[in-house]
Amino acid sequence: MRSALICGLDVGSTRTRAVIGESTHEHRRPVLRIVGIGSTITEGVRKDVITDLDAATESIRGAVEEAETMAGARIDRVHVGIAGDHIGVEHSVGVAAVESPEVRPEAVRRVNKVACAVPLPHDREIIHAIPQQYRLDNQWGIHDPVGMNGTRLEAELCLVTASSAVVGNLARAVERAGYRVQDQVLEPVAAARAVLAEDEKELGVALLDMGGASTGVALYYEGRTIDLMVLPFGGSAITSDLIREFSVPFVQARRLKEEHGAAHPGAIDPCEQLRLRSQGGSRAELPRARIAVVIERRLRSMFREIAHRIGKSCDPGALGAGIVLTGGVAATPGISVLAGECLGAGARIGVPGDGFRGAADPLARAGFATVAGLALHGADRYRATGQGGTTRVSGVATRVGAWLREFF
Ligand SMILES: Nc1ncnc2c1ncn2[C@@H]1O[C@H](COP(=O)(O)OP(=O)(O)OP(=O)(O)O)[C@@H](O)[C@H]1O
Ligand SMILES: [Mg+2]
Repeated sequence: MRSALICGLDVGSTRTRAVIGESTHEHRRPVLRIVGIGSTITEGVRKDVITDLDAATESIRGAVEEAETMAGARIDRVHVGIAGDHIGVEHSVGVAAVESPEVRPEAVRRVNKVACAVPLPHDREIIHAIPQQYRLDNQWGIHDPVGMNGTRLEAELCLVTASSAVVGNLARAVERAGYRVQDQVLEPVAAARAVLAEDEKELGVALLDMGGASTGVALYYEGRTIDLMVLPFGGSAITSDLIREFSVPFVQARRLKEEHGAAHPGAIDPCEQLRLRSQGGSRAELPRARIAVVIERRLRSMFREIAHRIGKSCDPGALGAGIVLTGGVAATPGISVLAGECLGAGARIGVPGDGFRGAADPLARAGFATVAGLALHGADRYRATGQGGTTRVSGVATRVGAWLREFF
């Protein structure tokens, strides 16, 4: 039996993660059976951009090979995430005449192409052109105009652009690791694919993917993508605050945050003390609640900025389904209460869930949302186009990419 292996790869600022799934059906519904998961500490990446090609290549190789070993198969191509402050988002409108009385798929392709024809500097490229809505004659708000009658078709698209150099370096690192980039997906778009329900997108929702160096934001309303952003702050800023505040080394600060942190001191027993070793080597006691004070201060400032940016794109009343928090920072105890208070909407934590079968349990953590979404996105593309998977025949995956590894 032929099936395809789909690989999502997230080169995050702190961790590089790979997920291999087998695209298949269950009761006629498409599902992704997870067969391999790999994760390494990211090296050679700063603020989501590759700064050391060899080190980034090794991180990618480590994560994908770990997933391949678990899957017992090789893959040759990946669906990779992209983020960073080089990302630009703009809204664009295109117009086209409808030649036959009813709109054919070709007319939609043409109007999308017109909307994509924006002047771009030579060092930038479009990575997504997401249709927001269509207008047929005078009626806006159409999701899919194919088959409808009209004479003048307009498309409103959300265009995501990226630095060609950054995109090229990511592809280069993936190639040097022995794989090919099938496509790039903006990280919050991927995370949204993994953790949001369709009815949340309909009601209006803000997805916050809070990683190490950046926070991706994806806004949806009436099933449409309203806006996308990559904001230049994340959990690393909290670690830096703890280093400064308590004069502890990086590793200890990160551990304090991840193992003893909370988004609110009220959630912590005020008498609880932690033992610390300072940078000079001396030992000291630290009330655990003080860690939460530092974390809360930084999170509040991040949420203030996020609220400000969301407010520029949509009315707060448009977020009927509230806020969904994901990414590593979303594991901070009490963060959904704080986010809800700061952003004036209900908030929940989003972890990858539906649509997976197989060895998917380790994916059910907020830090895996992006890579899980990349694999789901890859599976969607494979089902729609027949491209983007590694063909697996009778349990053996073809090793098209393996020879490449020998040459780099
Ligand atoms: N249990 C936890 N409590 C609080 N913070 C945590 C916890 N686990 C991880 N984090 C923080 O989450 C951040 C990493 O999140 P994630 O793995 O989503 O980032 P990334 O994908 O590597 O980075 P980016 O998305 O910015 O490229 C780090 O700052 C890490 O310290
Ligand atoms: Mg991330």
